[in-house]
Amino acid sequence: MMDELKRQAAIAALDAVKDGMIVGLGTGSTAAHFIRELGSRVRGGLRVQGIPTSEESSKLALEVGVPLTTLHDQPVIDVTVDGADEVSEGLDLIKGLGGALVREKVVAHASNYVIIIVDESKLSARLGSKAPVPVEVVPFAIDAVRGQLKLWGGEPKIREREGKPFVSDNGNLILDWWHEPIDQPIALEKQIKGVTGVVDSGIFANVAGLVIAATSTGIRMLKRGENN
Ligand code: 5RP
Repeated sequence: MMDELKRQAAIAALDAVKDGMIVGLGTGSTAAHFIRELGSRVRGGLRVQGIPTSEESSKLALEVGVPLTTLHDQPVIDVTVDGADEVSEGLDLIKGLGGALVREKVVAHASNYVIIIVDESKLSARLGSKAPVPVEVVPFAIDAVRGQLKLWGGEPKIREREGKPFVSDNGNLILDWWHEPIDQPIALEKQIKGVTGVVDSGIFANVAGLVIAATSTGIRMLKRGENN
C-alpha cells in the first residue's frame, strides 16, 4: 500500500518533466519509482539527461535507460525530483536516512525547481518529530562533532549498517541526531553547518518548491507560498 502511494507520487511528478530537460535524480525507494517511470518515458521517446544523487540512483538510471550527465557539463538543473524522510507544514525537510544527503543537497541547490515526492506518512506538524537529523561528518572529526551536538542537546549516534559504521558515497560517516522538534530549521541548518568537520546536514530548509504527497484519499500538491 505504502509502496503504491510512493509510486503514485512519482508518477504525478512526471508532469513537470519536459523534453530536453536536465533532471536531478533523487535517492531512496520513492525516488527509485520516479527513475523507473522516467526510464519508461525515455523508452517512449522523451529526451532528458539525468544527474544522479548517489551511486545507487546512477546504477538504476542506467539500467532503465535514463541517459546521465554531470554537474560539470550541465551546471544548471531544470527540475529535481527526490524523496524525503519528513516534510513540515512549511515545506521544510529532513532528508538523508538513505545516506545521500550531501549530493542531494548539492543537486537541489543547482536546480531551478525541486519537487519532493512522499507518501502521507512523511507529513509532519513539527519537523524533527518523526526522523533524526542526519549529519555527514569527515571521519577524522567524528568525536569532536558528536561532542558539540551533544552539548546542544539530544543524542547523536553514529549510523551503522550490518554492525559496521555506515560510509557515505563521499567516504564520510553519518551521525543521526535525535533532537527535539525543530522550531527554526533555517537557523539550525546554518548552526550545524558551522561546526568544523561537518560536511552538511539533512535539514533542507527553503528548498522544496512543490511537495507531492500521495494519500489514501488522493494526491495532495503542496506548493511553496500557498498556505505555508
Ligand atoms: C536519501 C533520502 C531519501 O529521499 C529519503 O531517505 C526517503 O527515502 P524513501 O523514499 O526510501 O522513504 O533523503 O538520502
